[in-house]
Amino acid sequence: MNDKIEELKEKVKNFSIENRETLEIFRTKFLSKKGELNEIFEAFKLIAGEEKKDVGKKINSLRTSIEDKYNEAKEKFSLLKKSVREEKDFSLPVNAYKIGSEHPISKVKNEILDIFETIGFKIAKGPEIEDDWHNFSALNFPENHPARDMQDTFFIKGNSEEKFALRTHTSSVQVRLMETDKPPIRALMPGRVYRNEAVSARSNFFFHQIEGLYIDENVSFSDLKQTLYYFVSQFFGEREIRFRPSYFPFTEPSAEMDIFLGIATEQDYKLTKGTGWLEILGCGMVDPNVLTNCGIDAEKYSGFAFGMGIDRITMLKYGIKDIRQMFENDLRFLEQFT
Ligand code: PHE
Repeated sequence: MNDKIEELKEKVKNFSIENRETLEIFRTKFLSKKGELNEIFEAFKLIAGEEKKDVGKKINSLRTSIEDKYNEAKEKFSLLKKSVREEKDFSLPVNAYKIGSEHPISKVKNEILDIFETIGFKIAKGPEIEDDWHNFSALNFPENHPARDMQDTFFIKGNSEEKFALRTHTSSVQVRLMETDKPPIRALMPGRVYRNEAVSARSNFFFHQIEGLYIDENVSFSDLKQTLYYFVSQFFGEREIRFRPSYFPFTEPSAEMDIFLGIATEQDYKLTKGTGWLEILGCGMVDPNVLTNCGIDAEKYSGFAFGMGIDRITMLKYGIKDIRQMFENDLRFLEQFT
């Protein structure tokens, strides 16, 4: 028995605890239920008489020395852990602000504005609550004319003689610009517009437009075509475009422009209703009546205008299936556009 105690003493002495792993090995080897110290205790139970007292003392002192060695090492390694922690510099500034991301509509808007800015278009802005003159009358929509029904309008209740409404297009900004600036005018009007439409995956009661206006001497339809062709080649890549005759009260002639997507994928087939062509924008030569309404000499100047909805273009570009997702402010959606 005494030999066994001596043997274990030696073992413990020679065991070097170097890290947390060996500390744990030390514990299981010597101090756990199945450890070597317990083995000795088990044997000790069988000893009788005088010898028991003597051996008991020795075992107890062995136990204390094993526990001391264990506790000392344990302390050391937990201290070490603390000092590693202390090496970190907690005075460094924390990154307190989560950086947001640009909204997909803003991304597309900025991309389009950049393209037109390189060919000399500046940016013009105007109010979202408009009077009848700037949204309709100046743009050649006669009073009680069915053309006003083309755009379902949110009128604003009030006592005033003048009728106010949420603008239905940013053409109202074209009017404001022509009233204040002299030709040559070359500008883009980005902004939010409102129409009283049923909300669905494809349409909303508000959306975003970019309209463009170019007024100078001798501006012709071919200038319009080349400008838009340039835009398409920069934004969508080299693609075929086509113009279809259309009607807007403020342009004459008027057209709608399509780009060719093809029908190679199911998505393209659906988007283009099986034709391969996708409508992108409305455009035309500014009606001389509009120029006159805005105080520009229609004999001397001519111009073109165009307008596109950027929500649809954004959906097309990023494969967004439901227009409403863009306005729910769900971070899981928005964070995809960093
Ligand atoms: N204002 C028209 C719309 O909102 C678009 C357009 C602008 C058409 C300029 C022709 C010229 O539908």
